[in-house]
Order: sequence, then C-alpha cells, then structure tokens
Amino acid sequence: MQDILRERYRAELSRMSMLPYYDISKREQYIEYKLKNEQCTWVDVITYVNIGLHEDCYKVVQRITDPYSLKILVNKYNKLGETFMPKDMETIDEKYNPEGLLLRHDARIAFEEMCRAAEREGIHLEAISTFRSFYYQWKIYLKDITPVQSIEEYSVQRDKVSARPGHSEHQTGLAVDINDLEQTFENTEEGKWLALSAFNYGFILRYPKWKEKITGYNFEPWHYRYLGKELSQSIFYSDLTYDEFYSRYLIQPNKGILYE
Ligand code: DAL
Ligand code: ZN
Repeated sequence: MQDILRERYRAELSRMSMLPYYDISKREQYIEYKLKNEQCTWVDVITYVNIGLHEDCYKVVQRITDPYSLKILVNKYNKLGETFMPKDMETIDEKYNPEGLLLRHDARIAFEEMCRAAEREGIHLEAISTFRSFYYQWKIYLKDITPVQSIEEYSVQRDKVSARPGHSEHQTGLAVDINDLEQTFENTEEGKWLALSAFNYGFILRYPKWKEKITGYNFEPWHYRYLGKELSQSIFYSDLTYDEFYSRYLIQPNKGILYE
C-alpha cells in the first residue's frame, strides 16, 4: 500500500519541480514527509522539509555564516556562534527603555520611530528584552530547572518557550520583547496595536498563534523582529512565518541566499 502511495507521490511531486524552492536533492525526504502528513499540501511539504521540520529540532543544525545580514534566520536549525555579538548596537531612547537595553543601529532607529507613532495614538511601548549574549541565553534557558530534573526532562517543556543558546533571535540584536511577557498581552490595546501596525515600521511578529509547529515556540505576542519595512510588509501580507517565508523566497536550492 505504501509503495503504491509512494509511486503516486513521486508523480505528483514531479509536477512541483517548477517551484523555485523545490530541491531535487530532498525528493525522498519530501515523499517520506508526505507519507506521514497526508493532509499537508505539496507546497507546505516542500517548505517544511526545506526548513528542517522533518528532523527533530536541534538534531541537524547549520552554523550561520553571515550573522550581520539583516535578514538572518535564527531558529532551532540555524545557530549563531558563541562569541557573536553585533558591533553596531546602540542604547534605545530611555523613554522606551528604562534599563538601557541595546539594539542594532537600524533596529534601534525603527523601534523608536514605532514607539513615537504609537505614543501619538495614546499607546505606550517599552522594550523589556533586546540583545542577549550566548551566555546570558544559557542563564535564561536554565532558569527554571530543578535539582531533581534531568536536562532532557526539562528541555521538553523549556524548548517551547525559550531558545537554546546560539538559537535565540535575541543574540542578533534585531529582536525586541515589548511591554509584557504574558500571552494576555495579545488582548491589550498595546498588543493589538503592534499586531496591526508593527509591520509598517519594519517589525514582524516572529512566533504567531497557531504556527507553533512551524516556529517551534508557543505564541509570543510580545516578541518582534526587525527586518526592514519592505520585507516586513511582504511577510505580513503573506501570512507566513519568517521560517516559511525565508525558506521559500530568500534562499533557494543551488542558488544559495538570494539577497545582498
Ligand atoms: N523566547 C524566544 C524564543 C527566545 O528565547 O529567543
Ligand atoms: Zn523574545
């Protein structure tokens, strides 16, 4: 039965080979993924396998070679080096950041512009976590571990809410947690304003609701990622996560990274 299905899927898949993000070297992985996820469309199968979702997370990890790219993708399959710390970070205006937190230059300018625009509409935004070093991310990742737990037991739950060191977008200096780390933030005036307006200032909601299986994280209505206005608008209207958008449109098999 599986063999008949495999043959059918091979024929169907050959019709998808015109997609620019179809990777012939992943053909068998696409078919295996489709066998396990029959309800998935071919476009999604190809996208998910390209992201790496057919493997357990943190199993096959690529080292990021261009950490200064504003379009950098950091996730459970792509990792920054231990010592990477952007050199162009600046302190955010204290009105929107009482603790002297840092963002990369372009993200800092855009964040302040967004905060000023929100302020004009009676919405107060504040950065509560921005750049985090590799070592600080260790501290955050391990903060709730108890003496009786093994790291494996702890990781099952922790991986849904915190990145392992090297895998956090916060290490890029382009991510910002805003106002409140509770899911109820979604329903506040500030959370609603951000959800509908942040893309106009160059920021996207990085871990949306209902996309947990793709991003690997629970919904985080407070975590925004700077990508520049043009790209953040395209992503907002595509209704894709950044992982999907990147894998389809910003990197292509055999052509490599399609930007800069
Ligand atoms: N909470 C996000 C996923 C992080 O730790 O980077
Ligand atoms: Zn965050």
